[in-house]
Amino acid sequence: MGTPIIIFGSSRSFGETWSAVHVVLGDNKSIPIIDLNTLSIAPYDYTYKNKEDDYLPLMERIVTHDLIVLATPVYWYTMSSLMKMFIDRLSDLLDIRKDIGRQLRGKRLYVVASFGTSLPKGFEEPFSQTCAYLGIIYEGCSFIYSGDDPDLQSANAQNIEKAQKILGIY
Ligand SMILES: Cc1cc2nc3c(=O)[nH]c(=O)nc-3n(C[C@H](O)[C@H](O)[C@H](O)COP(=O)(O)O)c2cc1C
Repeated sequence: MGTPIIIFGSSRSFGETWSAVHVVLGDNKSIPIIDLNTLSIAPYDYTYKNKEDDYLPLMERIVTHDLIVLATPVYWYTMSSLMKMFIDRLSDLLDIRKDIGRQLRGKRLYVVASFGTSLPKGFEEPFSQTCAYLGIIYEGCSFIYSGDDPDLQSANAQNIEKAQKILGIY
């Protein structure tokens, strides 16, 4: 199963994505959650002036886990900008820290996405293609609906269960 780590990237630390993650986790307190809001991670820089920020230490920690769970809200049909910055910085691992990049091969990645209107088309593509490029096994996505439409709410239980299975929580 492998030990998971959750990378959390919403514009608010205690909103709907936070609720979705905690519904999935239930009583489980052993899985670490890293809130990107609490770290200093600058956007990608071609000259690596940001290399002393919190990104590389975070990645050194992440590669000690076998399953990486990215938790993000759906903002304008895609991931949050906070999560996109995290993804963009993977480029650092192709240039200045190839040693960390190599350690990503064979890891597994899952996405938990909180949405409020409708299921976004093509949302998983950036995640699945990034994984394919880096040799990470893409395990899929649980879309958790945060709105009031009972039809959309009805799929939540199955998506929560799917995430729990991947995370090894029963
Ligand atoms: C800037 C912004 C853009 C959004 N775009 C979408 C969208 O494209 N599709 C959707 O279903 N919901 C969209 N929503 C609603 C959020 O996905 C939803 O409310 C989510 O549960 C918010 O999670 P949070 O509380 O962690 O931010 C958007 C919300 C915001 C603030």
